[in-house]
Amino acid sequence: MPIRVSTSRKQASLMQGESMGIVSASPLGPVEPVKTLPPMENLPPFPAVAMRALNVLAGTETSLRELCEVIRPDPVFSAEVLRLANSPLVAFSKEVSNVLQASMLLGFRRLRRLVITVGLRSYLDNASAQLLRSCWRHSVACAMLAERTARWNSVDRDFAYTSGILHDIGRVVLATMGPDSYASLLARIPDHPGEMLRCEQDMFGIDHCQAGARLVSAWHLPEEFVAITARHHDPLTHAEDAPEVTRLACRLADALGFSVSPQGSPYSAEEVLAEFPENVRTHLPQVREMAAEIAREIDVIDATVA
Ligand SMILES: [Fe+2]
Ligand SMILES: [Fe+2]
Repeated sequence: MPIRVSTSRKQASLMQGESMGIVSASPLGPVEPVKTLPPMENLPPFPAVAMRALNVLAGTETSLRELCEVIRPDPVFSAEVLRLANSPLVAFSKEVSNVLQASMLLGFRRLRRLVITVGLRSYLDNASAQLLRSCWRHSVACAMLAERTARWNSVDRDFAYTSGILHDIGRVVLATMGPDSYASLLARIPDHPGEMLRCEQDMFGIDHCQAGARLVSAWHLPEEFVAITARHHDPLTHAEDAPEVTRLACRLADALGFSVSPQGSPYSAEEVLAEFPENVRTHLPQVREMAAEIAREIDVIDATVA
């Protein structure tokens, strides 16, 4: 039976931002913890090419050519970069036949964006097959929305996109600990963060925010990503910074139909948009148009990437 959030709590939550521990009793009832948290080193590693692309944001001196040279020996990434470079997403007029040519046409920013997106997809596929498919769609939707809204803040667009891709990575930890338990939890709980985090705590002894922060720390990614994974369900601050851009983008992705839980978001897109700064909101397309644009991009990647 799905757990629904009452209107009064829903309103309070929207005004104050969701916080952990709102509910006094677990919506799941008495729960046996699944098992102890595995050492982060035992989890599958993030694809090396995507990790390299992520670390570019850490200030390493990887140029377009260097990134390209990391991609070329990797047959999976090479094939996927070429497929996407020849897809309707990019729509170059001539056929792109090698990675170097693709990288020159795409440019560094788009190539890195593509590598990170494909990297998350292959990581989630390896980790738990279909279980986290909705997580991939949600993360890409969140990344696209974060990138778009960052444009109207003083937040770096690349960083916003990457934050969106990584923010829910902690779900992989929980899915690895108990794939069936996590699937059943996702099926039963709507994507109200307070409820979701509480249930994850009850079932796994850790929630996906805490787990994500540990995983990203173990990968030695920059501290900014640790903060994004750890705090993306904290109450809204209304600050013009990357955590706030990610928080709002995550909520909007849920409300636009790209929720991790099949139960969906308890909030409408209009309710979530009301939380956005006015200067951002006025630049966003209509809700339907935004949802269609995101779905189109995700479908192209889905159809193109093996
Ligand atoms: Fe999350
Ligand atoms: Fe999210």
